[in-house]
Amino acid sequence: MLEIRDLQFTIQKDGAEIPLLQNISVKIPAGHFVAIVGPSGCGKSTLLKTIAGINVETGGDLHWDGRNLSEDGDLQPDEFGYVPQFSIAFDQLTVEESIDNAIRLRLKTKSGAEVEQRADRIIEQVGLDAIRERRVSVLSGGQKRRLGLALEMATDPRLLLCDEVTSGLDPKSENEIVNLLHRLSKSDGRIVASVTHSLGHLDLYDSVLVLYAGRVVYHGPPSALAHYFGVALAEEVYPALATREPDQWAQSWEKHREHYYSAMPGFAASAMPSAASQPASGKRAGTPGFFAQLFVLLARRWTIFFRDRTQLLLQVAMLLIFPAVVVLFAFEGIPALKRASETRSAGVEELIEQIQIEKNRMEVGGLLSGLVMFQVVLLALMGSNNSAREIAGERLIFEKEKLGGLRVSSYLGSKLFFLAVLVTVQSAWMYLFVNIFAQMPAPALIHGGLLILVNAAMTAICLGISAAMTSPDQASLLSIYLVGFQLPLSGAVLALPGAVEPVIQPFISAYWSWSGVVRSLDDRFFAAVDTVTEASLRPVGLCVLALGVHLVIGVVLSFAGASRSRWGH
Ligand SMILES: Nc1ncnc2c1ncn2[C@@H]1O[C@H](COP(=O)(O)OP(=O)(O)OP(=O)(O)O)[C@@H](O)[C@H]1O
Ligand SMILES: [Mg+2]
Repeated sequence: MLEIRDLQFTIQKDGAEIPLLQNISVKIPAGHFVAIVGPSGCGKSTLLKTIAGINVETGGDLHWDGRNLSEDGDLQPDEFGYVPQFSIAFDQLTVEESIDNAIRLRLKTKSGAEVEQRADRIIEQVGLDAIRERRVSVLSGGQKRRLGLALEMATDPRLLLCDEVTSGLDPKSENEIVNLLHRLSKSDGRIVASVTHSLGHLDLYDSVLVLYAGRVVYHGPPSALAHYFGVALAEEVYPALATREPDQWAQSWEKHREHYYSAMPGFAASAMPSAASQPASGKRAGTPGFFAQLFVLLARRWTIFFRDRTQLLLQVAMLLIFPAVVVLFAFEGIPALKRASETRSAGVEELIEQIQIEKNRMEVGGLLSGLVMFQVVLLALMGSNNSAREIAGERLIFEKEKLGGLRVSSYLGSKLFFLAVLVTVQSAWMYLFVNIFAQMPAPALIHGGLLILVNAAMTAICLGISAAMTSPDQASLLSIYLVGFQLPLSGAVLALPGAVEPVIQPFISAYWSWSGVVRSLDDRFFAAVDTVTEASLRPVGLCVLALGVHLVIGVVLSFAGASRSRWGH
């Protein structure tokens, strides 16, 4: 039994209090199929979100199987399913994979066979058997809704909350889904609460809850709906609502409620459930551990990575083109660099060579500084491309999975592992490729390490941006700006004004990586770079520290952003 008592949900907007739900008192017994209807904006979605614990009620209580959810904590992730209106699966996965993942993320399972068995049963239950191998991207609207339901059935929830899962479907598909929901409510004593717009086919529901301006104005059998509002057809209820104030409708419902409730089966006056409907404690499997969730997400991320053609092509193109671009620009200067490198040994011609070095000093200095900066900036660009959309692009899916018991730490852990591989491959390849053509007179460990660090720092910071923003486009744009400002604000090309430099430079990852690599060059080469740049070059240790701090800030921002609830309303 779900019982809502005097529920209030009020939001603050511009200093004013706006009540979105007022005095909601409703009972829904086990095995009940209830339609939640009402004009657009009346608070249907808000009510579902409040039951699911996404919105925190500002007054009243929710009771579930003898527990007061407002005092004893929200519903457990495996007790309920919430099917939002938006699509909540990854386009690149198949129906079966999506369901399989949902089970593995949400349920502590003993074996692969158990997962398979459960997946088979769910696929059967929601009627997706014929298309189990199909990718989510090609599913029809109705099939996607079925999949949405299937994902929620992973835990066999005893309460299923569905938000407009039939909207936008043709009458036949709509009918099929309503029948499916009806069936689901008739097994395991499951309550199915479904928000719907269509007032036409309400006979399959056990009861209809009508909301109007955040208030309950009716909750009774579908057959009595039209009569209650004094109209001939259920479809005429909305126009009828407009004839009186919401308060008036709410007050008259207060008077009638007990009468209607006493006439409906399962709505006995007692609020407390019978012992039989209490869940056997310990029966529920519980949420999988940190590592179990992390591995599922990591495997899923790699699958999506290799199936997402556009992303894959972009990654490969960047890997091939970026280092080549660096070499291309360095080509003309490479002979000068070689000459400079080969004059280490003292000999008869030392003096002549020395003069030549002096002649080429500016050229070599400019070339080295440019080469390093080029590598650094391109790696920063790769970093932002790695992560700008990583969280923002799947935010609603992530919120949904969090609600289903996914740990933020497992989620972020999987992202960090995945991104660490990209960063290492990109940076190591950039280092090796450029070094083949233009042997850099810097220690490999420092040079390579600082290239990895700048990519990692930028990837982490853009991941932080991705976690803070609601839309992937916002996150991308901000990340691109961040990369765009790296070169001009590094001070490597044009010196920053004296007063500005100490304020801005600490935040510019590219500067620290560039500065560290240049500083680690052989003395002669370092001196050469020093003549062409006005920027101050800091010790390698400090550069590594600065980039480490950037990396940590990025990870902390990502964690903070990912922990916040962001359903985009
Ligand atoms: N977090 C929020 N901040 C501000 N306004 C909100 C918030 N959540 C909901 N609202 C407002 O509360 C009202 C009820 O919203 P809700 O989404 O519950 O409506 P609904 O009944 O589901 O409508 P629809 O049928 O169009 O989906 C709307 O006016 C909406 O704009
Ligand atoms: Mg809604």
